[in-house]
Amino acid sequence: MPRARNGVTCRAMTAWVVPATSEAVERAARLARSGALVAFPTETVYGLGADATDERAVAAVFAAKGRPRFNPLIVHVPGIAEAEALAEFDARARRIAAQFWPGPLSLVLRRRRNSGVSLLASAGLDTVAIRAPAHPIAQALLRATDRPIVAPSANRSGRVSPTEAGHVAAELGAAVALILDAGRTRVGLESTVLDLSGDTPALLRPGGITREELEGSLGAIASPTAAGPSRSPGMLASHYAPDLPLRLDATEVRPGEALLAFGAAVPPGFAAVAWLSRSADLTEAAANLFAMLRQLDRPEFTGIAVMPIPAHGLGQAINDRLRRAAAPRSD
Ligand code: TXA
Ligand code: MG
Repeated sequence: MPRARNGVTCRAMTAWVVPATSEAVERAARLARSGALVAFPTETVYGLGADATDERAVAAVFAAKGRPRFNPLIVHVPGIAEAEALAEFDARARRIAAQFWPGPLSLVLRRRRNSGVSLLASAGLDTVAIRAPAHPIAQALLRATDRPIVAPSANRSGRVSPTEAGHVAAELGAAVALILDAGRTRVGLESTVLDLSGDTPALLRPGGITREELEGSLGAIASPTAAGPSRSPGMLASHYAPDLPLRLDATEVRPGEALLAFGAAVPPGFAAVAWLSRSADLTEAAANLFAMLRQLDRPEFTGIAVMPIPAHGLGQAINDRLRRAAAPRSD
């Protein structure tokens, strides 16, 4: 049985999926300031945005996603100046922010007292994850709202992140007041989450900025597994899951399987195929990953066979998401 998808029709959907014009951004900002939830594009994935200083709006984000309250949200700001009002930056955090912001990197830092950010957003931790997204619509919305915005990926908890406005409409439906549509997102994977709240930097979630890029600035970084679940409440083993079972590192196809292909040479016998990248380009594969998982997640197939993806650069984040999608389901 496919898990709950609300039964909104396409015609009804278009009522609140709007092209991200400057008027629409202004409207979204007014809605966010009044406590409503608005979905917007970032360069990684679409976010489900709400005023981070409004406890009730933040609670509504958890409810709309079906997200456990122990899993904290990322607070979005236009840049480092706004971020410094919310969290404590040391020289190291300033250097990393200057180098990678705006961009697909979230920094976990110690919360400032009186930052105004809802305690629920941090799930009671004394740290807060902050990100300055590069997408011009995200930037415009943050500036127009003039408040920090919490924005988890705009999917139901445990599901694949949305890289198109239609994914958000199909999954979150009426819980969202407005969805700003700016087409497919460029990076396609969520931001890298880097914990700089302690002495040792820890990579809590591989993502759009690669470990190699960060290590160029920070030296060796502790791995996500070494950091452990206590430092990264959101990194449950099973996450980002389609309905169909996934089989990783597949070099042959079994009867009825759809194939998620990487590279030009593919094994025969698939029931359907989607090409992450024919030219074995990891950037292209990352951008296609979530949309193609959705595309192949159909009841007429027995499963999704995924060809091996190299483990370097963006391949680390791609393999992380695939492992979670393939993990035994907790629900
Ligand atoms: O690319 C992204 O980061 C997207 C876009 C919309 O910005 N957002 C996103 O949010 O992926 P979400 O909520 O789906 O993932 C946030 C991750 C979770 O794994 C969460 O546990 C972790 O960040 N996180 C948030 N606050 C944290 C904190 N204080 N300490 C440790 N991990 C934290
Ligand atoms: Mg998410």
